[in-house]
Amino acid sequence: MSDHPGSDRPIEIAPSVLPADFSRLGEEVAALEAAGVDRIQWDVMDGRFVPNLTFGPDVIAACRPHASVLFEAHLMVEAPDELAPRYVEAGCELLIVHAEACRHLHRTLGGIGELGARAGVALNPSTPLSAVEHVLDLVDLVLVMTVNPGFGGQAYIATMEPKVAALRHLVLEGGHDVDIEVDGGIGPSTIQGAAAAGANVLVAGSALYRDAEGLAHAVSELRDLAEATRS
Ligand code: DX5
Repeated sequence: MSDHPGSDRPIEIAPSVLPADFSRLGEEVAALEAAGVDRIQWDVMDGRFVPNLTFGPDVIAACRPHASVLFEAHLMVEAPDELAPRYVEAGCELLIVHAEACRHLHRTLGGIGELGARAGVALNPSTPLSAVEHVLDLVDLVLVMTVNPGFGGQAYIATMEPKVAALRHLVLEGGHDVDIEVDGGIGPSTIQGAAAAGANVLVAGSALYRDAEGLAHAVSELRDLAEATRS
């Protein structure tokens, strides 16, 4: 494992579906796959953990046949244990729960494994890494939020980069097989800071959909910028 400050894990570009046209989500999901994304993130919001309401499991299940890339559900919900089985049934191979929503995080993550899915844990900007340092052996991914969760189109919080770098150090030191994901405000002017700090899975929403040259151009531009931090 190299000691390059950035990550040596493959760069992955993961779209947030929030800016998509909800009236034709199946087609939108297929278009994202055709544009070359590596996985698709569903921002699941329950109107309690965050002040917004989005995708129920039936919506995701309806879109599952339209793409073969990995579906991850970012569960911004108060009670992930109750909802987890429904999102696995809907076709999500990876469930990401918020450490702030779990009284028994170790049990919740173990439970996701028992459902046959991969587990991830997310941290709000104000939450320290210490909240997850004792569960890194249970997860495939740690998500460092680079905005306060609940909405797309917010400004990137660059002061999260030292947290990403410290997490990378924790992961390397422990020999953990863990992807580091960032989410919120990721675009052409911010992705290199996050990738150089150690993130290898980069979630982008508005930056993909506002590219005048289309989704495929947006995805490859973000990938090239992130990979350029490696050389
Ligand atoms: C916010 C979500 C993000 C958001 C990203 O709570 O978790 O996935 O949709 O959108 P942008 O890239 O527009 O910040």
